[in-house]
Amino acid sequence: MPSLTEIYPPFGLQITAGPLELRGIGEAEVLALLALAQGGIHDPSWTPFAFPWTDAPDDELPLNYLQWWWQSMATFRRNSWNLDLAVLWEGEVVGVQGVATRDFLVTRTGETGSWLGAAHQGKGIGTAMRRAFCAFLFDHLEFSEITSAAFADNAASRGVSRKVGYRENGVLRQVRRGEMVESIRLVLAPADFVRGPEITVVGAGPARKLIGLD
Ligand SMILES: CC(C)(COP(=O)(O)OP(=O)(O)OC[C@H]1O[C@@H](n2cnc3c(N)ncnc32)[C@H](O)[C@@H]1OP(=O)(O)O)[C@@H](O)C(=O)NCCC(=O)NCCS
Repeated sequence: MPSLTEIYPPFGLQITAGPLELRGIGEAEVLALLALAQGGIHDPSWTPFAFPWTDAPDDELPLNYLQWWWQSMATFRRNSWNLDLAVLWEGEVVGVQGVATRDFLVTRTGETGSWLGAAHQGKGIGTAMRRAFCAFLFDHLEFSEITSAAFADNAASRGVSRKVGYRENGVLRQVRRGEMVESIRLVLAPADFVRGPEITVVGAGPARKLIGLD
């Protein structure tokens, strides 16, 4: 009988760089992430998220969160997929780093998104995890461009993008809690990428096959 990781290779992905580890989200990781989210990711008077999932009532968040996890597996298609990895720092689950892409084999681009539990922010982990993940996308999954977006008032997210080498690429007007907000579009080209420490990757081969590269 094949293992779950053989059927869905993201479970077996592991990217490490010193104290940082990004790994596939299994049951233990998703529950640890849910606990972090319940502990708070941002000041509730504001939201950094275009899809305001943290605004859900306390009694709805747990099932919503598991549904997000199941959905990323249930809706995986070569022409439309998301890859989200749990972020660990010194062995502790601290957040999520992911990418979403459509028609990847043609476009070779995707949009990164991430969050950290509030206690783990402002310590450089956000920069370290984005650098490690972008190195993985460029060097192991053959991305030729990586995009991102952040609300104009999200200084931390924009700070990470600046340090990693993303360039601003226009402004989109969006709705946040019923009001207009400017979303800054960002794009990272391989030549602009400000790398972090070298990464070690386990499980890239099966992941490449899953997305149709090999
Ligand atoms: C966005 C996020 C992942 C960034 O990770 P982080 O670990 O907090 O960021 P870092 O410590 O690596 O900081 C990167 C840069 O941003 C800047 N920065 C970080 N937090 C900041 C803040 N609250 N205000 C202003 N600047 C800030 C710093 O200048 C830093 O650059 P420096 O090293 O030159 O000083 C994290 O803050 C987070 O999870 N925030 C809530 C969720 C979120 O906003 N997700 C992104 C949605 S687009």
